[in-house]
Amino acid sequence: MTSSATVGRAHWSSRWAFILVAAGSAIGLGNIWKFPYMTGTNGGSAFVLVYLACIVGIGLPLLMAEIMLGRRGQENPADTMRIVAAEAGASPLWRSIGYLGILGALLILSFYGVVAGWLLEYTVRAVGGFTQTSGEEFAAAFSELLADPLTLIGWHTVFMLLNLAVIAGGVTAGIERANRIMMPALFGIVLLLLAYGFTAADMPAAIRFMFHFDPAAITPTVVLAAMGHAFFTLSLGMGAIMTYGSYLERETSIGRTCLYITIADTGIALLAGLSIFAIVFAQGLEPAAGPGLILQTLPLAFSQMPMGDIIGGLFFVLVVFAAWTSSISLGEPATAFLIERFGLARRLAACIVCVSAWLVGVAVALSFNVWSEAKLFGLNFFDLLDTLTSRIMLPISGLLIALFVGWVMKRAHVEDEIGLRGGALTMWFNALRYIAPVAILLIFLNALGVLG
Ligand code: PHE
Repeated sequence: MTSSATVGRAHWSSRWAFILVAAGSAIGLGNIWKFPYMTGTNGGSAFVLVYLACIVGIGLPLLMAEIMLGRRGQENPADTMRIVAAEAGASPLWRSIGYLGILGALLILSFYGVVAGWLLEYTVRAVGGFTQTSGEEFAAAFSELLADPLTLIGWHTVFMLLNLAVIAGGVTAGIERANRIMMPALFGIVLLLLAYGFTAADMPAAIRFMFHFDPAAITPTVVLAAMGHAFFTLSLGMGAIMTYGSYLERETSIGRTCLYITIADTGIALLAGLSIFAIVFAQGLEPAAGPGLILQTLPLAFSQMPMGDIIGGLFFVLVVFAAWTSSISLGEPATAFLIERFGLARRLAACIVCVSAWLVGVAVALSFNVWSEAKLFGLNFFDLLDTLTSRIMLPISGLLIALFVGWVMKRAHVEDEIGLRGGALTMWFNALRYIAPVAILLIFLNALGVLG
């Protein structure tokens, strides 16, 4: 911990350290697991196009707004929102943004742990050498994993213990150190996969699938899914990035920092997607396979490439690392809240948070097998949590943040904190005032069928 703006509160050691941890939070399962499978199930390029538009028009401005709020409040999300609302002379009800975030982050953490557990299992399988040889066999091997509650819960437990270790270790000592080594390595291995996609798989088909212009495929559901994913991938609306912003020194320029984070996050998702679809099309696999997509395609590629067990093992380990650096940011808001509101010791707070997410995660693991018939709105518990967080809670939080910063906060405070000037300031502010709220509302109403 270095010098701090608020006495006693930890801060990142430098601006680059912040970029690294924020990118570590953003880059995770969302990029490597979720983005490709969502692209596959939502019509390919239609999804990618709307996702990119949402990242630029809504995601980046909100990322800046959320970090700015965190830094202004210097507290956990609930108290940060209480403080900035008081400063603006606004209703204390704006705190609800903070509570919504803390709760949503815990819910995401619970299913995130189960999916990260799949990757732990695949790390072991890859190192041992995959025994399957065809797409069908890999699909069957993944279904077998889902049908096995003990293995799912076992790996989920391991992953939650990893989180507990870092979160209990504290902001700079734990979180920052964990990010330093893992993120650059992940980028390296994604480039390696991309090279494989270009040389040994069907890259032109992947590019066509992800980027050809097909407006007819853009349906209301695709648009809502793409917007929800833009929030998810940038870690928005969950108090995660707000909490990280609260550990940021006042001197740091938020705009440029956020631009780097967004480029890194989007870049990794697009590269991972291209590599995966190149393999899908070369092997005649199903792009709309759903959540198991990367576990049914990549192992096939690893089993065929030279040194595939080493490269495969390394790849899955790095994805676990990417998941880990995201999930610690999911646990941190609730942990900071328990420490700052109730005076708990960090270790105890981290334990409460991880055990709660672990418990909900056990139910998620069982929703793939023992409880697979238990459905609400036609969704099992896993799909329900994913839909509730990504498609409902994240956009609502995002909408409220945009309205708060765009319309409620005092303009002078906003300008003082964000540190932008001229055209950049105007563009950012208008994106928050008009573009983000209108777009989020329209997308919601459209998906609900209200707009016909
Ligand atoms: N952005 C992370 C990912 O893409 C997930 C996440 C969501 C993390 C919300 C924090 C908050 O995997």
